[in-house]
Amino acid sequence: MNDPNQLPPPAAIFHLVSGMWAAQAVATAARLGIPDRLAHGPRTAAEVAAAIGADASSVHRLMRGIATVGVLTPEPGGRFALTPLGESLRSDVPGSMRSLIIAEMAPGHWLPWGHLEDSVRTGKPAAPAALGMDVWEYYEKNADEGFHFAEAMSGMSAMAMQAVLAAYSFQDARTVVDVGGSHGAFVAAVLQREAGARGVLFDRAEVVEGASATLEHTGVASRVDRVAGDFFQSVPAGGDVYLLKHILHDWSDDECVRILTNVRAAMAPEGRVVVVEMLIDGAGPPSPAALLDLNMLVMLTGRERTAEEFGALFAKAGLRLSGVTPTHSPVAVVEARRA
Ligand SMILES: C[S@@+](CC[C@H](N)C(=O)[O-])C[C@H]1O[C@@H](n2cnc3c(N)ncnc32)[C@H](O)[C@@H]1O
Repeated sequence: MNDPNQLPPPAAIFHLVSGMWAAQAVATAARLGIPDRLAHGPRTAAEVAAAIGADASSVHRLMRGIATVGVLTPEPGGRFALTPLGESLRSDVPGSMRSLIIAEMAPGHWLPWGHLEDSVRTGKPAAPAALGMDVWEYYEKNADEGFHFAEAMSGMSAMAMQAVLAAYSFQDARTVVDVGGSHGAFVAAVLQREAGARGVLFDRAEVVEGASATLEHTGVASRVDRVAGDFFQSVPAGGDVYLLKHILHDWSDDECVRILTNVRAAMAPEGRVVVVEMLIDGAGPPSPAALLDLNMLVMLTGRERTAEEFGALFAKAGLRLSGVTPTHSPVAVVEARRA
């Protein structure tokens, strides 16, 4: 629904409510591997149910339900086929969005979102109370969900990185340190383009351990060192490019300054910090940044920011804003160098 005001208000509100059902239904189909079962052609719900070991009538209801939001298309003979949207939920396609919808609809996000009101009242994240721990510890303890979250980040990167690489040049990069780089989809895309560059993938231990498949499939594994650590302690030294994609939005201003101060201390003198984030500016058409910002409110201490707000964080860390590059995607590149 592009413009809710095109619908009568009660219908628009009902549409919003059904969005919650639709997202959970699509996530359930993704988790059950239904798009994978349709990869080689249309099948009936009974055939899919037999393949995944689930109740045939309920699988039919699920497939009929997600067909209404464009994931499947009904065909003669009671079969369902994948649409392009459904194709993106297969596990074996480049830039798969399967893990994104699984991770965002799973308890690690779902439970905190049930307490959004608490966050709005207190200004504090709901995740620690809802999960009994912060989300990173939760992902460490719930490895399957944590793996889907890391793969979800690859899906998010796939959505944006071609637009970033078209708009912003990494041409002279020698060592690209991907700070909080998850499974490395972004640094891999940079290295695929810059054949002479090397990469360092830096993240929490269990995350970098899970990065093998991404680095190998993209053909850059031999050029990437994987380093486990905590960016509040330090980051790997000697890089000339420090990528921070969707890192600073997770954290409060003070926490961002600590991370950026560690990056400044580690980087080569002529190095640059390349922040990739959705910018929030209050002007222009509605941006996904405003809803992503609520995700930050409920999950973590962070927020989406304007370019000026990033500039103020850089200044507190001994850096200066050296460029803002919009892209043909929801993210922009905000660059910083030593002040
Ligand atoms: C929102 S994800 C962004 C991932 C990736 N940069 C991307 O955009 O696809 C944040 C990342 O920060 C990592 N992270 C969280 N706390 C960290 C810490 N203290 N030290 C290092 N990495 C951390 C998480 O494991 C996660 O991979």
